[in-house]
Amino acid sequence: MTDVDLDVPRSARDLDAALRADVRAGLAVEPKWLPSKWFYDRRGSELFERITELPEYYPTRAERSVLARVAGEIAELTGAHTLVELGSGSSEKTRLLLDALRGRRTLRAFVPLDVSEPALAEAAAAIAADYPGLRVRGVVGDFTEHLDLLPGEPPRLVVFLGGTIGNFTPAERAAFLRSVRDVLDEGEWLLLGTDLVKDPDVLVRAYDDAAGVTAEFNRNVLRVINARLGADFDPERFDHVAHWDAEAEWIEMRLRAREAMRVRIPGADMVVDFAAGEDVRTEISAKFRRKGVTAELSDAGFAVQHWWTDDEGRFAVSLARAVRRPAGA
Ligand code: SAH
Ligand code: AVI
Repeated sequence: MTDVDLDVPRSARDLDAALRADVRAGLAVEPKWLPSKWFYDRRGSELFERITELPEYYPTRAERSVLARVAGEIAELTGAHTLVELGSGSSEKTRLLLDALRGRRTLRAFVPLDVSEPALAEAAAAIAADYPGLRVRGVVGDFTEHLDLLPGEPPRLVVFLGGTIGNFTPAERAAFLRSVRDVLDEGEWLLLGTDLVKDPDVLVRAYDDAAGVTAEFNRNVLRVINARLGADFDPERFDHVAHWDAEAEWIEMRLRAREAMRVRIPGADMVVDFAAGEDVRTEISAKFRRKGVTAELSDAGFAVQHWWTDDEGRFAVSLARAVRRPAGA
């Protein structure tokens, strides 16, 4: 018998209202921008899964190789009773951790949280079916808002994989890490995946693949706004742009209007004009260095106990323990 449920907290139910607020804020300013969480409806989550299989998109494979190597050690060190996964998506790589924790016989519950209900429902059902006896408690929500709603008994291991932390700005990152620390007790654990700074050509290719899957993923945000807010964006009139910002050390994804156009967004009560060549920023994907990750975790009240990378040094996985926050922080 499977033991699975999916919770949609009341505060997470009104996705349209949240999207409306983000569209109103982001498309009324110069330069225009949209938060990257709106890529992920059913189609967006499927496109992301296709990205993870592209020859150019190395992060998923690199992170999986690290987890395959060190999952046993992570299980041994943490002895976690609850595995919480933020931005869980398909939770495919997470199975390596579930296997290791099951092998050590400590794991009782798996709590994946994701804003994409279809992706979460599918992953939670598949994991419940494949791990009999494991309590699977999916939560549909936003990891910047709903961490206090996560169930599960200590000791907990919170995992945030895929390099999704790079999709925050530095200020958002600091606030997010603190909020994770706030819901943990001293001694509990965070496992964090971070993509590393490398040759800009390799990075740009990973975000501008030859088959055009990332371009479709990028345009999906416009389809989401069309579907949820009744807008009349023509996604094909926007070009996909992946730009490496060498100073900020992040990839910036943008949608560039091919020509001047006017878009109606009735659900946000807006009419938006685009100039030919005007960009909308849709995502940043920051790349990291060891020193920065360790310092940011430390500022939030985590002590890094292990730093593992894949053989080619492309991607890092850090295991950090919740400690007392530095005085004044
Ligand atoms: N962890 C998986 C998926 C990464 S893709 C992996 O490593 O492959 C990023 C995931 O985060 C998507 O499933 C997306 O739906 C989710 N996501 C993005 N922004 C979010 C937010 N603000 N709150 C909750 N989930 C979010
Ligand atoms: C989810 N996130 C870590 C991905 C990334 O690499 O920043 C999303 C993505 N954007 C383009 N390709 C993949």
